[in-house]
Amino acid sequence: MNMNKKLVFILLALAFIVVVSCKQETGIKFNHKFHIEENDMSCEDCHTLTDGKMSLPSMDKCSECHDIDVDNPSEECLLCHTPQSAKEDYSIEQKALPKSYADVTFSHEFHEGIECNSCHKGIENSTDLKSITVPKMPVCLECHNDEEAPKSCDTCHKEIRKDVPPASHKGDWAQWHGKEADFDKAVCLYCHQKNMCSNCHQTQKPRDHLTFVWKTEDHGVEATHDRRKCAECHTAGYCSDCHRQKPPSHKRGDWMAFDRHNGHAEAARRNFRSCKVCHETAECAKCHQTIIMRQP
Ligand code: HEC
Ligand code: HEC
Ligand code: HEC
Ligand code: HEC
Ligand code: HEC
Ligand code: HEC
Ligand code: HEC
Ligand code: HEC
Ligand code: HEC
Ligand code: HEC
Ligand code: HEC
Ligand code: HEC
Repeated sequence: MNMNKKLVFILLALAFIVVVSCKQETGIKFNHKFHIEENDMSCEDCHTLTDGKMSLPSMDKCSECHDIDVDNPSEECLLCHTPQSAKEDYSIEQKALPKSYADVTFSHEFHEGIECNSCHKGIENSTDLKSITVPKMPVCLECHNDEEAPKSCDTCHKEIRKDVPPASHKGDWAQWHGKEADFDKAVCLYCHQKNMCSNCHQTQKPRDHLTFVWKTEDHGVEATHDRRKCAECHTAGYCSDCHRQKPPSHKRGDWMAFDRHNGHAEAARRNFRSCKVCHETAECAKCHQTIIMRQP
């Protein structure tokens, strides 16, 4: 790519990002907490069940208290409309349901008479719309426990079943599931027992363990990058038990020698953090309290 082409490419990429991020701001600004508390309003003042769906209020509802002169657009419209909405003839783009809802059957009609905040927790305290999310499955299961309401998967799901592997499980999933970017482990446990994970993790090593120097070098570097992923399969005790044995570096003849270029002094100066993986500072102090250090 020559310089000009590169520049055009970058500008196009930027324009794309700008378009995408503005798109999300097309909509309405609204503060539930304020209107419910200060104006003593209830959910049903603005949302009612119409044709099986919960309605969203039209601007007429707002006009009951706010002066809105639709024929003369002005700055005042921006009290409720985002700048992007104003730019696009004040049109409103409704938030889509999250992807995880694609398989879900739900209707407010099944739940008439149930308090809104059994499912929409905390809306009365929310000050913007961005923070509002539709309920997650565990909220449903608070009642769908086979006592108040049925809990079998087919109550709410069209395709998903506990004993049918979901679409993610294709190919060598058994090897690759760990690479799936930050999945929500709670979702795995909708279908799996916790010990199913740990039983396998105690015997099957990840591929990075297969390098020749995993035990003596690589694992420390990996652990320094991201300790959490080790905890997926190892207890802290597993690490510290082995760290109670002297590493190869300590077995060199000059480890304790006065030669500062090969000994522990130089190693400590280079990377003291690595010592602390296995040593309490107090252990160093055992000798260093009594030894008068030579100045470098
Ligand atoms: C003064 C009117 C008003 C009252 C009162 C009100 N809401 Fe809303 N609500 C709105 C508006 C306006 C929106 C945003 C609609 C939009 O995005 O176009 C909204 C959005 C929502 C949404 C999110 C919809 C989505 O898809 O993002 C939920 C859920 C909701 N309200 C529930 C409630 C509940 C529960 C109560 C009572 C605690 C309540 N509302 C009270 C006006 C109101
Ligand atoms: C029962 C009267 C009433 C209704 C109905 C009402 N509002 Fe309000 N709203 C107020 C009052 C009072 C204020 C505070 C004075 C002001 O800023 O104009 C306010 C303030 C606001 C604010 C500014 C809040 C803030 O956090 O700064 C927004 C945005 C707003 N309303 C949006 C709406 C929308 C959207 C609707 C229709 C879905 C609506 N209001 C319906 C009474 C009402
Ligand atoms: C107090 C809040 C508020 C103010 C101020 C306000 N609007 Fe609205 N407006 C809304 C709400 C709420 C809707 C309905 C959104 C929906 O239909 O989901 C809406 C919808 C609209 C729509 C219809 C959009 C569509 O896609 O159907 C137009 C046009 C519009 N507003 C123009 C204006 C103009 C012009 C002004 C300034 C003179 C203004 N609005 C000021 C709250 C407000
Ligand atoms: C049993 C749980 C439950 C109860 C109770 C409940 N909702 Fe919902 N609500 C949901 C779910 C799930 C969705 C998202 C799925 C959907 O819209 O079909 C939703 C969506 C909404 C939406 C967004 C609709 C849209 O088209 O964007 C509004 C507004 C809303 N609820 C208001 C209310 C109000 C007001 C009440 C009380 C009168 C209420 N809900 C009671 C579970 C519930
Ligand atoms: C506050 C308690 C409660 C919560 C929370 C709740 N439900 Fe329900 N749900 C019920 C009750 C009660 C019934 C009626 C059960 C019956 O008829 O046997 C029901 C019925 C249903 C039905 C119809 C079942 C049938 O027999 O066909 C569906 C689907 C459903 N709920 C989905 C959901 C979803 C999805 C959620 C979470 C977003 C949810 N429910 C949250 C109490 C609740
Ligand atoms: C009472 C209703 C209800 C029941 C019963 C229920 N679910 Fe769900 N489930 C939901 C809702 C609502 C969602 C979407 C919200 C979310 O992501 O949590 C969901 C989402 C999921 C997802 C995530 C899908 C994705 O694309 O991320 C899985 C997996 C799942 N359910 C599995 C199950 C299994 C397995 C069962 C039976 C053991 C079950 N569910 C029973 C309501 C239910
Ligand atoms: C909707 C149910 C469901 C969900 C959600 C689910 N699984 Fe599975 N999973 C299955 C089924 C069914 C199998 C096949 C079981 C069998 O072969 O005995 C399976 C198999 C597996 C296997 C292969 C086991 C083996 O011995 O080869 C792994 C690994 C696995 N799942 C991990 C996960 C992880 C990690 C998650 C969360 C990201 C997850 N699963 C979410 C249903 C599910
Ligand atoms: C069939 C054996 C097996 C089962 C069952 C299994 N895993 Fe794994 N898991 C592995 C292997 C092997 C790896 C390492 C893959 C690699 O990187 O080479 C791994 C890696 C992971 C990682 C990534 C760790 C890292 O490197 O960041 C996570 C997270 C994980 N598994 C979660 C789960 C969960 C949650 C379950 C249970 C729902 C589960 N696994 C069930 C074999 C299994
Ligand atoms: C088989 C024994 C053994 C096990 C098990 C072990 N380690 Fe180590 N670890 C060592 C040795 C040997 C060294 C020193 C390598 C060297 O000489 O620098 C070391 C060094 C380290 C270092 C320092 C790397 C550096 O130089 O910066 C970290 C961090 C580390 N290990 C983390 C862990 C974690 C986390 C676990 C458990 C998940 C673990 N180790 C399990 C033997 C082990
Ligand atoms: C998917 C599970 C899994 C993950 C993730 C994992 N390990 Fe392991 N690791 C194992 C298994 C299984 C063994 C073999 C245990 C045995 O032999 O008892 C092992 C062995 C080791 C050993 C000893 C190697 C030897 O040759 O003796 C070290 C050191 C180690 N792991 C460090 C780490 C570190 C550090 C991390 C994080 C960067 C990590 N492991 C992440 C499963 C895992
Ligand atoms: C993998 C674990 C591990 C790491 C990493 C480690 N040490 Fe050690 N070190 C030990 C063990 C185990 C002993 C023996 C302790 C005992 O006998 O009480 C030891 C002993 C020592 C001793 C006493 C002399 C000896 O050989 O017994 C010195 C000095 C020392 N370490 C310095 C360091 C310094 C400096 C670092 C960092 C550059 C470091 N160690 C990193 C495990 C480690
Ligand atoms: C068994 C006794 C002993 C232990 C334990 C010990 N050291 Fe030393 N350390 C010495 C001796 C002896 C010297 C002097 C060697 C020299 O000057 O080259 C020294 C020198 C040093 C120096 C150079 C000091 C200077 O001012 O030049 C550093 C840094 C150092 N040690 C770090 C550590 C750390 C970090 C630990 C703990 C991980 C540790 N030592 C544990 C005996 C010990």
